[in-house]
Amino acid sequence: MALLNEQELQAKAKALADQLRAGDVLLLDGDLGAGKTSFTKGLAAGLGIADYIKSPTFTIIREYQDGRLPLYHMDIYRLEDGGAGDLGLEEYFEGDGVSVVEWPEFLGSAMPEEYLMIHFHKDPQNDDLRVLTYTAVGARAEALAAALA
Ligand SMILES: Nc1ncnc2c1ncn2[C@@H]1O[C@H](COP(=O)(O)OP(=O)(O)OP(=O)(O)O)[C@@H](O)[C@H]1O
Ligand SMILES: [Mg+2]
Repeated sequence: MALLNEQELQAKAKALADQLRAGDVLLLDGDLGAGKTSFTKGLAAGLGIADYIKSPTFTIIREYQDGRLPLYHMDIYRLEDGGAGDLGLEEYFEGDGVSVVEWPEFLGSAMPEEYLMIHFHKDPQNDDLRVLTYTAVGARAEALAAALA
C-alpha cells in the first residue's frame, strides 16, 4: 500500500478533484491530525478555490463558491454527542456541489445513502507518512475509488 507524504496526499486530492461532480459526497475518516483537512485543502486547490480557510473547527460548515464546483466542507467533530441530524446536511449532499465531511462517525441519522469514504492511516514508523484506503458505497463512489486506485 502506498505511503504518501503530505505533498503526495494533496496531489491525490487534486487528482480526485478533477473527477468530482455535483452531488458527490466524500467522508473523511481518521484520527486527529490524520490529514483530513490537509486532503481537503488539496481538493479545494484542485477545484480552483482560491480562498480556502484551513479548518472549519468553529464553523461546522464552510461553503466555497469560487471553484469549478461549490465545495461544502463540514467538520462535525464537536457533534460527537449528536445533533448532526438537525443540520439539514441532506440538502448539501444532494445539492449542486461536492460535500466533504470530517468525523463522519458522528453523522448518525444524517449518514448519506451513497458516499466515498476515505480512511486516513498514520504510518506508525514515520509521522510524516499516511496510507489511504477507500470504502465506496454506490456506483458513483465505486467509479471514484477506481479512479483513485
Ligand atoms: N503525509 C501527510 N499527510 C497529511 N498531513 C501530514 C502528513 N505528514 C504530516 N502531516 C501533518 O499532519 C497534520 C494533519 O493535520 P490535519 O489538520 O490535516 O488533520 P485532520 O485529520 O484534519 O485532524 P482533525 O481531526 O483534528 O481535524 C498537519 O500538521 C500536516 O502538516
Ligand atoms: Mg481537520
